[in-house]
Amino acid sequence: MVDLHGIMVALITPFTDDQTAIDEHRLQALIERLIKAGVHGLVPGGSTGEFTSLTIAERKQLTELVIKYAAGRVPVIAGTGGLTTAESLELSIHAAKAGASAVMVVPPFYDAVNLTELKGLLAEIKDATGVPIVYYNIPSATGLKLSPTELASLSEIGVRYLKDTSGDGPALTELLFNLSDKITAFNGWDTLTFYGLAAGARGGIWGAANIIPELAVELWETVAVKGDLKKGRELWAKAWPICKFLESHNYAAAVKTGLEVTGIQTGGLRKPFVMLEPELQSEVKSLIQNAAR
Ligand SMILES: *[C@@H]1O[C@H](CO)[C@@H](O)[C@H](O)[C@H]1NC(C)=O
Ligand SMILES: *[C@@H]1O[C@H](CO)[C@@H](O)[C@H](O)[C@H]1NC(C)=O
Repeated sequence: MVDLHGIMVALITPFTDDQTAIDEHRLQALIERLIKAGVHGLVPGGSTGEFTSLTIAERKQLTELVIKYAAGRVPVIAGTGGLTTAESLELSIHAAKAGASAVMVVPPFYDAVNLTELKGLLAEIKDATGVPIVYYNIPSATGLKLSPTELASLSEIGVRYLKDTSGDGPALTELLFNLSDKITAFNGWDTLTFYGLAAGARGGIWGAANIIPELAVELWETVAVKGDLKKGRELWAKAWPICKFLESHNYAAAVKTGLEVTGIQTGGLRKPFVMLEPELQSEVKSLIQNAAR
């Protein structure tokens, strides 16, 4: 079974210019660029991928396309969360059959589930697919805030991984230092990336890596693999302002805007969401240029 680790890109979903469809060529070009930069995995259909803007058919299409373009070079972790068990099951079964290495499951995000309900949902997905599950912990969107011990208890029903987008550094520390025999926590909060890798996280699921894949991979090699904190700090000084910027705005809009200012066409966002305004475009452009120095 695949060992997920390293820089796993929370992939954007490129659209055609009228946003009526996923743009296959743009998606393929982006995936080539990311794999060439050395990223270790692709995570389509998450928050950065605007999954709430996609139909079920498009979510399946996106998973299939990413698996096709990745062509076995890096694992694909398909976002398959939904508002009901039936929806999430359908997407997860589809992703597993299509060849996804794992599924990333965010629980229902309008009405919060409780821990018992969450375990029921994840157990059904586990039984029906057999692929590893990455639990997507994002309390700000789901209303479900679990303690580190509760998160680790998801291993009882076969959950192996966790994307931690809680922004809670002490909770991440507890998961890494005290609960790693039960569940493997990936950092999923941009501005905590340096800390998470330095504290021993096996990887990060990271939206900024769409824009700065080389820097993201270099940070991983330097901090997580070599343990060179001094050099890692220099790299983080470049990446951090971009991470802070992305987290200060609509995240998917900020990532797509960051790509556009570096000349990569994304097709923009689906209404009602819009790209960032001109002053912010200039701001992110200069942050990206500074990072490239
Ligand atoms: C979740 O809610 C159900 C239904 O009210 C209840 O039976 C169960 O004990 C709750 N679980 C937790 C962990 O609160
Ligand atoms: C948590 O891990 C740290 C570092 O390994 C250890 O010193 C501490 O005793 C652990 N705490 C608990 C509650 O297990």
